[in-house]
Amino acid sequence: MNTPLLTSSEIRNGLDTSIFGKRDIIHYRETDSTNTRARDLAERDYPEGTLLIAENQTAGRGRMGRRWHSPAGMGICMSIILRPRLSPGDAPLITLMTAVAAAETLISLLQLKVRIKWPNDILVSGKKIAGILTEMSAAKNDIRYVIVGLGMNVNTPFEILPDDIRDIATSVYIETGKRFKRAEIVRTFLKLFEHYYQLLLESGSEQIVPRWKEHSEIIGKRIRVDAVSNTFVGRVIDVGRSGVLLLEDERGNVQSIISGDVSILA
Ligand code: BTN
Repeated sequence: MNTPLLTSSEIRNGLDTSIFGKRDIIHYRETDSTNTRARDLAERDYPEGTLLIAENQTAGRGRMGRRWHSPAGMGICMSIILRPRLSPGDAPLITLMTAVAAAETLISLLQLKVRIKWPNDILVSGKKIAGILTEMSAAKNDIRYVIVGLGMNVNTPFEILPDDIRDIATSVYIETGKRFKRAEIVRTFLKLFEHYYQLLLESGSEQIVPRWKEHSEIIGKRIRVDAVSNTFVGRVIDVGRSGVLLLEDERGNVQSIISGDVSILA
C-alpha cells in the first residue's frame, strides 16, 4: 500500500517555510535521477529553492558512483537547488547540515534513535535509512549552484529490499511497523533544512558542526576511510570547520579527509 503521491499540493498543504517548497515543485512519476534533472534546471537558471521529487528513479545515484535503489512510491527521492554565497571549500558543510536536518526530522516525527555516519549516512539500528548526495558546480572562487539530493526509505517493507542491502538498509516502516505519510516527512525536513541553511549562511560552521557532532557516532572512534585513491586508518579527533574529517593516523599524523566511505573498527 502506497501513501498519496508526493505532488506539490500534497507537500504545500501545511508547509511552514519561506523558500523551500515555496518555489517550483517538480513532481515526476518516473525520471532517471532527480539530481541529474536538478542539474539541468540549475543550468537553465532555475532559482534557489526549486524542488524536484520523483516517485521512481530509473538511475538513482548514490555517493562514490553507486546506485540508489528505492522502490516506486515508497520512499522519498528529492533534490533541491541551492545558490549559496559560500566559498567552494565550505560546500561539505551543506552535506553536514542536510544530514542534521534529515536526522532531526526522523527524531522529531518518529522518536527514532538516529545516528549520522560521516559524512551523510543516516542510520537507525545501525542500518541506513537515508543518504545524501551533494553535487556542486563552481567557477573560480564562487559556487554557481549546489544540488542536494536526499533519498529516504519510508514505507519499504523488508521483503522488498534487494537481497544485497538487506543487512545494511532499513526504512521507517521496518523500524516502526507503521506506514507514514511521506509529505509530512518532507514538510518537516524542509522546515529544518531551511533553518540550518540560514544558520550556515549566517555563521558558517559555528552552529552546524556542533549539532552534527551531537548526532554523529564516530568522534573518538577508530575507523577506516576508503577514499577514492587512498585508505586511511586512525582515530577520529574532530570534524573541521569546513566539514572535513580530522583523523589521527597510526603514525600520529592528522589527516584531513574530504570524502570517503567510513567503516568503524572494533
Ligand atoms: C548515498 O547515500 O550514497 C546518497 C544517496 C542519495 C540518493 C538521492 S535520491 C534523490 C537524489 N537523486 C539521486 O539520483 N540521488 C539522490
